[in-house]
Amino acid sequence: MQLFDVYPLNDITISSAKGSRVYDDKGNEYLDLYGGHAVISIGHTHPHYVERLSTQLKKVGFYSNSVKIPQQVELAALLGKVSGKEDYHLFLCNSGAEANENALKLASFYNGRKKVVAFKKAFHGRTSLAVAATDNPSIVAPVNASADVTFLPFNDVEALEAFFAAHGEEVSSVIIEGIQGVGGINVASPVFLQAIRRLCDQYNAIYIADAVQCGYGRSGRFYSHDRSGVDADVYSMAKGMGNGFPVAGISIAPKLHAKHGMLGTTFGGNHLACAAALAVLEVIDRDNLMEHAKTLGDYWMTELKKFPQVKEVRGEGLMIGIDLGDQFLTLKKDLLYKHRIFTGESKPNVIRLLPALNLEKADVDHFLDIFSTELKASK
Ligand SMILES: Cc1ncc(COP(=O)(O)O)c(C=O)c1O
Repeated sequence: MQLFDVYPLNDITISSAKGSRVYDDKGNEYLDLYGGHAVISIGHTHPHYVERLSTQLKKVGFYSNSVKIPQQVELAALLGKVSGKEDYHLFLCNSGAEANENALKLASFYNGRKKVVAFKKAFHGRTSLAVAATDNPSIVAPVNASADVTFLPFNDVEALEAFFAAHGEEVSSVIIEGIQGVGGINVASPVFLQAIRRLCDQYNAIYIADAVQCGYGRSGRFYSHDRSGVDADVYSMAKGMGNGFPVAGISIAPKLHAKHGMLGTTFGGNHLACAAALAVLEVIDRDNLMEHAKTLGDYWMTELKKFPQVKEVRGEGLMIGIDLGDQFLTLKKDLLYKHRIFTGESKPNVIRLLPALNLEKADVDHFLDIFSTELKASK
């Protein structure tokens, strides 16, 4: 059997990793500023993470949600503390798409409505409703296309108000990334998030904060949406949550009430997944990684903005987009193959930086040197 060929692959095989470095099977070292797509939050093979997972694995790796799993309770308590949402409730699942799927479903259970508001360039995952709320028709199959989703312009308060004035009573939920990732690192303005909160309150709709990529401390705040000073009703999270172990969840405001059987999943919140998520939170908390992400990100963005060749630098904390416009089209590939630096990208030509939250300043300076050399060389 061969693999179903859906991923365009780099010809690199990673055989080991440590901190913000990965090593290929030929012994070459790479600087990882991509974090395996914003997943590696506390660094590869972090000792506390390895220890916590190994210890758990030796005791029990999995049992289903038909029994008590104290690690889930421990995780909920710590997540409440570190995220500052102690009165919220936690439902655990396995991926970002599944988290959003459950969030959208929960909203609909709550208000009995079907209409979803999403935004231009949004990415919320590839399962049925999550993909229908994703602004990319090429990945929406006909079977997903029947959902009632309207895409409004991002950061446009007037358009949102006009939509609610016309259809507010039918809106079940509004879903928004605090910083659009796949869409090119576009930061939602506080005023826009406040408008979503206000209109959702006025029309009894649910505000869903998709924090799958921009959450778990990456922006320097636990949820990047928090920059607006208003709370969402549901926060979805995944990626950085397990530092590579597949674990995801939704944090749910107290006004949404649980009912047995309402949501569920076989693997969600298993013992190993909880150990991974706990290890990540413990390291974020103990090592003040949110503060570090903010300070290092501010420094990095300030330095990047000094390059006259760069069209725009966007982002917050360690979620940074370098918009190169229509120049330097080979830069991302050159960073990888000439300089052994992994970065991400968004179409048409945005370099995305999504490193571990404990990246060191020396690594940022190394990147800036290489970046400067490459920009000069391509003149
Ligand atoms: C903002 C956002 N939401 C949801 C998802 C989907 O997550 P997953 O691939 O874990 O299903 C992604 C993945 O890139 C994402 O960036």
